[in-house]
Amino acid sequence: MSAPSDLEALETRLSVGIKAAPDLAALDALRVNALGKKGEVSLKMRELGKMSPEERQVMGPALNGLKDRLNTLVTCRKTVLEDAVLNAALDSETVDVTRPVSHQARGSLHPVGQVMEELAVIFADMGFAVAEGPDVEDDFHNFTALNFPSNHPARDAHDTFFLKSAEGETSKLLRTHTSPVQIRAMMNKKPPIRIIAPGRVYRRDWDQTHTPMFHQVEGLVIDEDTHMGHLKGCLMDFVSTFFETDLVEARFRPHHFPFTEPSAEMDVRYESVGNAVKIGSGDKWMEVLGCGMVHPNVIRSCELDPEIYQGFAFGMGVDRLTMLKYGMPDLRPFFEPDSRWLSHYGYSPLLQANLATGLS
Ligand code: DAH
Repeated sequence: MSAPSDLEALETRLSVGIKAAPDLAALDALRVNALGKKGEVSLKMRELGKMSPEERQVMGPALNGLKDRLNTLVTCRKTVLEDAVLNAALDSETVDVTRPVSHQARGSLHPVGQVMEELAVIFADMGFAVAEGPDVEDDFHNFTALNFPSNHPARDAHDTFFLKSAEGETSKLLRTHTSPVQIRAMMNKKPPIRIIAPGRVYRRDWDQTHTPMFHQVEGLVIDEDTHMGHLKGCLMDFVSTFFETDLVEARFRPHHFPFTEPSAEMDVRYESVGNAVKIGSGDKWMEVLGCGMVHPNVIRSCELDPEIYQGFAFGMGVDRLTMLKYGMPDLRPFFEPDSRWLSHYGYSPLLQANLATGLS
């Protein structure tokens, strides 16, 4: 039969082993050897049944204490060894971020992101800054301040996603266009203002050429002597730089938008070459954007005096521009995570769009 002094010797031997375990596998083997079903301590526990009540009173608590202390030692050693494994991995997996990126780098930019970059570069060259607004808007910025009368059918045409709001809270919606950024720009900054606002917009629409989320870019110029001539010059320059041709022939077709007066849609002359379009020649006209002189009511909603300030605005669909420029026949893959499509149409993250060496 064991005596308390045997247990001391056993504890010393097992503890030394556990504390010196070189790795997690060795530690687990030691744990099984000591505390597993057939381990040394467990075998001693079994002997309790054969002991006299007096002996059991001494050996029971002694064995339980031994078991607890060994368990604690195993847990401590385990933490030390796990930390060592983690530190070794962190050391061997460090990345030197100052090293040049390999030209074998995988991954590419989505064409829509690339086109947004191109738009920012083109308009920056004309003095425009990039502005942003929230995707979750309110009725005031998305409609009312943009001169959409309440209950006007133009609101329905946007097929808005409304968000649930709590009692007494202003109701929120997903912006249906990037035009509300115009309002935010005019309310936050004194003219002169020259901004473009690229971003996501949302409408309840889903078919071959419509997705419930798509991308637009908005443009706004507000100053004291701005007129339609500036609008026309700016947009002609834009189209010629974006489609990389000097041969732009455009027509401005009268249209209606609540937030501009007069309003127009800009068409450019083009011909189809396979899936792509060639701008500047051919006998077809293609609509590229909506534009107009900012309506005095919109300027007034932003607490500016329309007798002093005027300007122009424009808006266009980025996904559609991307399809046209790069000859992509279908909109849907834009929103499907298909890596084959992305590696075919995607852009190198290392080649920044710029006007000096070419856009794309
Ligand atoms: N917000 C319009 C839309 O979503 C696009 C637009 C047209 C914006 C004319 C403008 C503009 O700023 O002047 O269809």
